[in-house]
Amino acid sequence: MKKLVLSTLITVYENVDELSREVQLLMNEAVKIRNTAYAPYSNFHVGAAFLLENGEIITGNNQENAAYPSGMCAERVTVWQAASRFPDVKIKIIAITASSKNNPVTDPIAPCGGCRQALSEYEIKQGKDIEIYFMGETGNIIKTDSLHDLLPLAFDKSYL
Ligand code: THU
Repeated sequence: MKKLVLSTLITVYENVDELSREVQLLMNEAVKIRNTAYAPYSNFHVGAAFLLENGEIITGNNQENAAYPSGMCAERVTVWQAASRFPDVKIKIIAITASSKNNPVTDPIAPCGGCRQALSEYEIKQGKDIEIYFMGETGNIIKTDSLHDLLPLAFDKSYL
C-alpha cells in the first residue's frame, strides 16, 4: 500500500487590477454576459468568456429550466458553443464570474464537477493546457494553470 499526494498550484490575485490586460478584458466579457443569465430559480448568475487561439471570444451564461435538471451551467453552454463554431481552434483562457440576487458573492466561484469534466475533454483533445480564472462579484480571483489542476484523476477516453 502507498499513499500519494496530488498537489494543485493556484494563483490568487487580490483584485482585477493585478490581472494582465488580456485577462481583464476577458473577465469584463464574462461579467457582461453574467448579467443576462437566465436564472429565475436560483438567482445565481454565472458568466463565462473563452479566449480562443484565433482571437475569438466566446461567451455564455447559465440557463435554468422549470424542470431543474434540464438547465445548464454557463461553462458548458460556452464550451459547447466554442466547440461547435470552432472545432479545430484551441481554447487558451477561460474567465468565469458569478453573482447572486440573494447575497453578494465575494468568493471566487470554481466550476462545478460536471463542468470540470466537460471542459477537461477539450483540454485533452487539444493537447494544450487551458488557463482558468474565476471570481465572484468582488474579491480575490483564483487562477489554475490547467483543467487537470482543477480535476485530477479525470475520466478520459483511455478508460474506454
Ligand atoms: N452554475 C453554473 O453556471 N456553473 C457552475 O459551475 C455551477 C453552477 C449555475 C447552475 C445553476 O443555474 C446555478 O448556477 C445554481 O446552481
